[in-house]
Amino acid sequence: MNVFHKKSDLNKAVNTFNSAYHTLGLVPTMGALHSGHLALIKQALSENNLVVVSIFVNPTQFDNKSDLQKYPRTLDYDVALLGTLTEGEIIVYAPTVDDVYDGNVSSSNFSFDGLEESMEGKFRTGHFDGVGTVVKRLFEIVKPDNAYFGEKDFQQLMIIRKLVEKHNIPVNIIGCPIYREKDGLAMSSRNARLTPEYRKAAPFIYKILKSAKIKFGTNSDIKVVEWVKSKFAKHPLLKLEYFTIADEETLQPIKRKSKSKSYRAFIAVYAGEIRLIDNIALN
Ligand code: PAJ
Repeated sequence: MNVFHKKSDLNKAVNTFNSAYHTLGLVPTMGALHSGHLALIKQALSENNLVVVSIFVNPTQFDNKSDLQKYPRTLDYDVALLGTLTEGEIIVYAPTVDDVYDGNVSSSNFSFDGLEESMEGKFRTGHFDGVGTVVKRLFEIVKPDNAYFGEKDFQQLMIIRKLVEKHNIPVNIIGCPIYREKDGLAMSSRNARLTPEYRKAAPFIYKILKSAKIKFGTNSDIKVVEWVKSKFAKHPLLKLEYFTIADEETLQPIKRKSKSKSYRAFIAVYAGEIRLIDNIALN
C-alpha cells in the first residue's frame, strides 16, 4: 500500500490513477484505526474506484494539550490493518503538521449557523474551528468526489455538511452509522486508553441512551434529562459532562417537544481522564 507524507506525492499518485470516469473517496481520520473507521473505509471502497485515507492528528482541534500529546499514534499498525482490506484501492495520506498547515498552525474562524454552539462546541472551545480548518484543507488537497464521516460525531458531521454548503465545496458528504463493540460501547480511538475498570464501566453510557430513548416516548424531555443525570450522579466511576436532547437538524437543545421534528440525545462522559461521547436518534 502506498503511504505518502507529502501532498505533492499524494497528488502525483492520485493524478496517475484518476481519469474522467473514476471517483475518488476520502475518509479523514486521526489514526489509531478501529472497526468503526474500517466500516467507513469499506463503504468508501464500495462506492469509489480509489480511496484516500488521511491519518493526521490535527493539533488545532484539541482544546486540551495533554489530550493532544496522549492521542494514540500507531501508523505502522494502521497501515497493516488497512492492508487486510482486499477489495479496492487505498492510498494513505499521513502528512506532517507542516504539510497540512504550510507553517501557519492556526484555525480559521467559522460560522456554522449555530450548529457549533451547543454540546461539543460549548465544552471544547475552538474545537469546530479546528475541525473545519483541517477538513477544508484536506478537501483542497485531495479534491475528493465523496467524503465519509461517522454519526459517532454527529455534530461534526452536520458541521461538515454546513462547511461544504457555505463554501461551495464540490464534494458529497456521506454519513455512516455508529459502529459499536459487542457490549454497546461506541468504538473510539480513545477506548484503548481506558483502564480495565473504566472499560468495564463504559457500556453503561449506551445502556442509558437506549433507556432514555424508550423514556422519551412517554415522558417530557425534562423528565428524561433529570433521570439520566440521577443515574450518573449515582455511578461510582463515570462522570457526566452533558446530556442534551436536541433538534436533529439545528442541534439546538429541545424547547417544546413537537411531533413533526426529529430529536437526538447527545452525551459526553468522563471515564477517569478519558472523555467519551455518544448519541442516539430518539424518533
Ligand atoms: P477520528 O476520531 O479518527 O474519526 C474519523 C472518522 O471516523 C470520523 O468521521 C468519525 O465520526 C468516524 N468514527 C469514529 N468512530 C466511529 C464509530 N464508532 N462508528 C462510526 N464512525 C466512527 O473525527 C475525527 O477523527 C477528526 O475530527 C477528523 C474528521 C479526522 C478531522 O481531524
